[in-house]
Amino acid sequence: MILVTGGAGFIGANFVLDWLATQQEPVVNVDKLTYAGNVENLASVHGDARHVFVQADIGDSAVMDVLLARHQPRAVINFAAESHVDRSIHGPEDFIQTNVVGTFRLLEAVRGYWSRLQGNAKSDFRFLHVSTDEVYGTLSPSDPAFTEENNYEPNSPYSASKAASDHLVRAWHHTYGLPVLTTNCSNNYGPLHFPEKLIPLVIVNALAGKPLPVYGDGMQVRDWLYVRDHCSAIRRVLEAGKLGDTYNVGGWNEQANIDIVKTVCALLDELRPRADGKGYAEQITYVADRPGHDRRYAIDARKLERELGWKPAETFDTGIRKTVQWYLDHPQWVANVQSGAYRDWVQKQYTATAE
Ligand code: NAD
Ligand code: DAU
Repeated sequence: MILVTGGAGFIGANFVLDWLATQQEPVVNVDKLTYAGNVENLASVHGDARHVFVQADIGDSAVMDVLLARHQPRAVINFAAESHVDRSIHGPEDFIQTNVVGTFRLLEAVRGYWSRLQGNAKSDFRFLHVSTDEVYGTLSPSDPAFTEENNYEPNSPYSASKAASDHLVRAWHHTYGLPVLTTNCSNNYGPLHFPEKLIPLVIVNALAGKPLPVYGDGMQVRDWLYVRDHCSAIRRVLEAGKLGDTYNVGGWNEQANIDIVKTVCALLDELRPRADGKGYAEQITYVADRPGHDRRYAIDARKLERELGWKPAETFDTGIRKTVQWYLDHPQWVANVQSGAYRDWVQKQYTATAE
C-alpha cells in the first residue's frame, strides 16, 4: 500500500492512474479537494478496490494519524499543494497554510507513524516530496541549467512556500532520520491539467474564441515535461533514490512562452480548424506581465539519468500533440471544470470522508 496526497489534482491523478494501470499495489489517495482537486479525474478507477479515496487535509494531524495507522503504507508521496503562481501573488495565505504548515504537519504525522514501525517496514519506508524547479529562482539566457547543487532563491510566494517545504523535508531527514526523497521538476503538461495554467488555458480559450493571454513580451522560457514522464521519474526515485537526496526532473525542452502558444495554435489549426478559416494565432493577446515573473527555468536532469537510468519517453512534439488531442476528445471534462460541475462528482461517485 502506498499513500498519495493531492491525487485528485493534475499530476497526482496522472500518477494514481498510471500506478493502478501498471502495479497491483493499492493506493490510498488523500486529497482536500480544493478548487484544483477533481475526482472526475479518477473516474476510470472508480470501483477499483485498489484505490481508496479520502477527502482530507494534509494539515489535519488527527486524520492523517488515523489514515497512516489504518492503511500502514510503505511509502507516502506528497503531491498536495497550492500550485498556481498567479494565485499565490493574489492570495498567498493558502500557499503558506498547505505548502508550509500542511507539509510540516504531514511530516510530523509520518514521523510518528514511521517511528513505530519495526524491522524492514521501518528501513524500507519512504517519504517522497514532490517539488518544483521554481525553488532555484530564475536564470539568465547564458546561465547553465539548474543542477541539484544550485542555491535556493525562490521569487514568488508559491516558490517560497515550496522552498520552505523542501527545507522542512530535508531537516526531518537530518534531524530525525526520516527516510525522505525530494524531486524538483520543471513545467508539466498533459491530460487533466487545470485550465488556469498556460497550455490548457490556451487550448480551452482558443476553442472558445477567447483571447490567448501572453504575459509581457512572451519571451520567458520554461522547460516542459510530459506529465507521465514526471510520474515515471517519481516511481523510479521511489524505487531506487538515495535517502536524503534531491533529484531534478526535466525534459531538456526549453521554449519561450510565445512559441508554446504558437505551437498549440498550429496544432489546433490542423486538428480543429476555425470555422472562419483564420488561424488561432489571431487570438494571441499580449497582456500585463506577472509581477516578479521569473525569466527562465531550465533543468539539468543528468543526475537522475546517470544514477537511476531515467529518461523521458515523450518528445515535446509527441507530448503536445497528445495533449491537444486529449482536450479535443474531452469537451465534457472541460465544460464540467468551467461550470463547476466537477465538484458534484464527490457526491455522485465517492464517499469521500476520512472515517
Ligand atoms: P494541482 O493544483 O493540479 O493539484 C493539487 C492537488 O492537491 C489538488 O487535488 C488539491 O485538491 C490538493 N490539495 C491542495 N491542498 C491540499 C491539502 N491541504 N490537503 C490535501 N490535498 C490538498 O497541482 P499539480 O500541478 O498537480 O502539482 C502537484 C505537485 O507537483 C505540487 O506539489 C506542485 O508544487 C508540484 N509540481 C508541479 C508542477 C507543474 O508543472 N504542475 C511542476 C513541478 C512540481
Ligand atoms: O516550473 C514548475 C512550475 O510550473 C510548477 O511548480 C507550478 O506548480 C506550475 O504551475 C508551473 O508554474 P508556471 O508559473 O511556470 O506555470 P503557468 O502555466 O502558470 O505559466 C507558464 C508560463 O506562461 C509562465 O511564464 C507564465 C506564462 N503565462 C501563464 C498564463 C496562465 C502567460 O503568459 N499567460 C497565461 O495566461
